Amino acid sequence: MVTLAIYNLKGGVGKTASAVNLAYLAALDGYKTLVWDADPQGSSSFYFGVEASVKNEARKILEGELDLLKAVQPSAFENLSVVPSDLSARNADILLSELKQNKKKISSLLSSVKKNFDVVFLDCPPGISLLHENIFNAADYVIIPNIPTTLSIRSFETVNTYFKENDLDKSKLKCFFSMVDHRKNLHHETMNEFYKDKIFFKNYIPYLSDVEKMGVHQQPLFAFANSSYAAQCYRDLWKEIKKSCIN
Ligand SMILES: Nc1ncnc2c1ncn2[C@@H]1O[C@H](COP(=O)(O)OP(=O)(O)OP(=O)(O)O)[C@@H](O)[C@H]1O
Ligand SMILES: [Mg+2]
Repeated sequence: MVTLAIYNLKGGVGKTASAVNLAYLAALDGYKTLVWDADPQGSSSFYFGVEASVKNEARKILEGELDLLKAVQPSAFENLSVVPSDLSARNADILLSELKQNKKKISSLLSSVKKNFDVVFLDCPPGISLLHENIFNAADYVIIPNIPTTLSIRSFETVNTYFKENDLDKSKLKCFFSMVDHRKNLHHETMNEFYKDKIFFKNYIPYLSDVEKMGVHQQPLFAFANSSYAAQCYRDLWKEIKKSCIN
């Protein structure tokens, strides 16, 4: 089982859209795929039309009151399951801080489902906290969608420094550009500068309204715009991620 955390310290960079679309492609490739929605916003749960079936489900999973596997729900797509989130996930840091081995909880929960799945996508909330430290430990790769702008790159560099200062495995860090606007020189300049850094995937996701429409259709992109340019960009990115992280 390979665990891919789709993460950024910064919010609104395309983490959820990417987790949902990449998970769809992994499932289409035949991998038994799980999306674990770790964000109290519940955005990836919304895209898959799945809701927690137990009250305070996210809290109960973290506290060990509910097996992770029991929280797994099927999606409308073959090979693709979801652990939905709910508002109780907002207290993840407090709950984790009260546990023993509190930096490895997500890792140990995931090891309980490793026979059931080939690929797990963690749709992470923005931030950098105990929950994220858990995610950094649990993930085989921490994949960061990055908008090629100053503040986004700055938060990427903060994460890099955090990994260094906390003795985390920097080889887990991977990056791709997200919401790229071809008309903006700044985007091109930033991308050219950062492509020198080998942790950036070559393929990127442009700013495209078909991605935004996922909210209207409440579905992964491929379910309503399979032949779109946006769908092709995600397919190219997935191919590169698969080669680098799965095979
Ligand atoms: N490539 C894209 N082109 C256009 N709009 C996009 C693209 N990717 C995401 N969006 C839109 O931008 C908004 C934020 O995207 P998304 O929810 O995926 O980001 P996020 O990083 O998960 O945010 P959060 O930090 O709140 O979890 C959404 O409205 C989404 O539809
Ligand atoms: Mg999100």
